[in-house]
Amino acid sequence: MQTVEQLRALRSSEGSGLLTRIAEERAAGRSELQIGSRLRAEFPAELVAAGMTLVAVRERAAAKFSRSDAMWLTRAGFEQASTEAIARHRARRYAGAERVADLCCGIGGDSIGLASAADVVAIDRDPLHLACALANAAVYDVTDRVSGIEADVTAIDMTGFDGIFIDPARRSEQGRLVHRTEPPMPWVFGLTECVAAVGAKAAPGIDHDSVPAGWEIEFIAEGRALKEAALWSPALATAPRRATLLPDGISFEAIPGDAVAILPPGAFLLDPNPAITRAGLVQDLARSIDAWQIDPEIAFLSTDAPVFTPWARTLRVIASMPWRIKDVSAALRMHGIGAVDIRRRGLAGDVEAIRKQLKLQGSGRATVAMTRHRDQPWCVVGVEQLALSQASSGSA
Ligand SMILES: C[S@@+](CC[C@H](N)C(=O)[O-])C[C@H]1O[C@@H](n2cnc3c(N)ncnc32)[C@H](O)[C@@H]1O
Repeated sequence: MQTVEQLRALRSSEGSGLLTRIAEERAAGRSELQIGSRLRAEFPAELVAAGMTLVAVRERAAAKFSRSDAMWLTRAGFEQASTEAIARHRARRYAGAERVADLCCGIGGDSIGLASAADVVAIDRDPLHLACALANAAVYDVTDRVSGIEADVTAIDMTGFDGIFIDPARRSEQGRLVHRTEPPMPWVFGLTECVAAVGAKAAPGIDHDSVPAGWEIEFIAEGRALKEAALWSPALATAPRRATLLPDGISFEAIPGDAVAILPPGAFLLDPNPAITRAGLVQDLARSIDAWQIDPEIAFLSTDAPVFTPWARTLRVIASMPWRIKDVSAALRMHGIGAVDIRRRGLAGDVEAIRKQLKLQGSGRATVAMTRHRDQPWCVVGVEQLALSQASSGSA
């Protein structure tokens, strides 16, 4: 889908007939080529191409949206869109706001989420994205909460909004923007001169130092996948740094205290969620679960008692030794480990080459942490608790 006219045509009764036919043909197991040539006999070729792209994008969009099968999406708009879970989570910060501007609304992932908290004015300079956003508001039954303005956001008068959310573009028609966004982040931070309550989406790799003092950085993970950083102006900030885990909807912030001990790996190795690591909260997590670090620079934690926390993967340690490939290989063979997940943290090396050198044999599975202990190359071999209990009951 490339134009507003194509969107209109696909939303017409002819378009709806075409989309039904595409679904039927796909369900019958026909190839893209076959479907295209069959349907071009019934519908205009340009509409068939637009419809087939839309159906393919909708299929991928199921990973982000519960109503993906009815949404109006461009490929680029979908790829940049916030997931439904994250947009809804962020929208909670605007509780109590009446009218929020969703600047750079794209296909409306955030507009839909924000509509659960306030009336939303969706603004984008791309007419097709804006039209998709409004059509998607209808898909999510929030049409009465979402209106739209086609404009360059830098030319908008922000008077009358009591909240702003912005997801600046990280790509242009020419491709990915390197180390910059459109509009640029300094302009985004300056929005507080007009409206105090500002939230912005940023890449999870954002440099902490580029965020002004008083702003919160919230690192959001869905499961173990770190998805983004949300930046909150002082009026919306609730902590300097925060890690949030979805779909659980839980969040972790700093726990001040003494420096965490540095000790050799114990009976359990904990691999913190990347949201914790990126938020710089590894020591805080250690304090909350009575864990220690195995190296001051490395994010692995360890305990002697089993600890289960949503903020880390817990592995039972079956071997711990200085990193020497021969010794690691021998230890894995002794435990019958034939498949390993190699986690490199603090040590260089080509994972696939190392896997070959390990000459794995056996039916067991383990995680091999290639890491450092007190600045010495170190290896910890660990198994998931579940895998261990299955192995001991003979079902692994
Ligand atoms: C990352 S996407 C937004 C995704 C959206 N938050 C969602 O969840 O669907 C960025 C959008 O910013 C728009 N954009 C970039 N610069 C703009 C500007 N100066 N004014 C208005 N829109 C702009 C692009 O057209 C694009 O649709």
